[in-house]
Amino acid sequence: MEPADFILPLFIVPGEGIRKPISSMPPQCQLSVDAAVEECREIKDLGIGGVILFGLPESKDDEASGAYADDGIVPRAIRAIKREIPDLLIITDVCNCEYTSHGHCGKIVNGDVDNDATLEWLAAGALSHVKAGADIVAPSDMMDGRVGAIRKRLDENGYTNTPILAYSAKFASVFYGPFREAADSAPQFGDRRSYQMDPANGREAMKEIELDLEEGADMIMVKPALPYLDLIRQARDRFDVPISAYQVSGEYSMIMAAAQNGWIDEERAMIESLTSIRRAGADFILTYFAKPMARLLG
Ligand code: PBG
Repeated sequence: MEPADFILPLFIVPGEGIRKPISSMPPQCQLSVDAAVEECREIKDLGIGGVILFGLPESKDDEASGAYADDGIVPRAIRAIKREIPDLLIITDVCNCEYTSHGHCGKIVNGDVDNDATLEWLAAGALSHVKAGADIVAPSDMMDGRVGAIRKRLDENGYTNTPILAYSAKFASVFYGPFREAADSAPQFGDRRSYQMDPANGREAMKEIELDLEEGADMIMVKPALPYLDLIRQARDRFDVPISAYQVSGEYSMIMAAAQNGWIDEERAMIESLTSIRRAGADFILTYFAKPMARLLG
């Protein structure tokens, strides 16, 4: 393993000089754009592979307008980071749940998330990130057809070389709990089971990866990581593209909580979990442990 194998998720908030601790994920913080730039300097110095940005907008609405505004929180952060640290790889999470007043990943029509109406938001959101300088866009919403819709929009605007990292095998998981505090994105009614996958269904995961690749995904992701090592391995054996895994918030928080109680050795748990995810076949890992792991690897 080397530091470049890891991608650190960052949560960007409006304002200045803000480093607001995320209580369930110590020592992760929500960062204002200026603080994120400082953070990225350190990330670059540590040799970490890059960052994935999540945005919390000034205000939320039914139309998720903050998710695809050219001056939205994520495009502002991208421009500021690229100005100061141009060669740090920036991936952006493309989704709507942080931007909708109801917390769902898509447009609500007749009380339910409407797949096709949401595709327009996603294509526009991805384009706004790429125009600001994002290197890779990563749709995490799980609407059907989103990779194709984003690919088409980027190509039409001349961004034919910008890769798409598809959250292809993304399960309706309890392990996203702490993230929803970090990103303020908990659904206000219902859950995400109509668009995220059933944890019992491994075959569907391979099918989703296949479909995303057909639609033009350049790399794929399995998420969460540790409870789904079998699927990382199956994907590695079947698909000849870069494969990532997301060690999600709950996986991180469990280790940190146990460590803070003196019940587990934090460093060894970090190393063992990340080693297992690599062993299963992930080429790179999105993890909140990116900084301590990079420090350890020197
Ligand atoms: C947005 C999104 C989520 C995560 C990444 N992108 C939350 C969700 O789907 O509910 C979870 C990441 C984590 O738990 O660390 N849709």
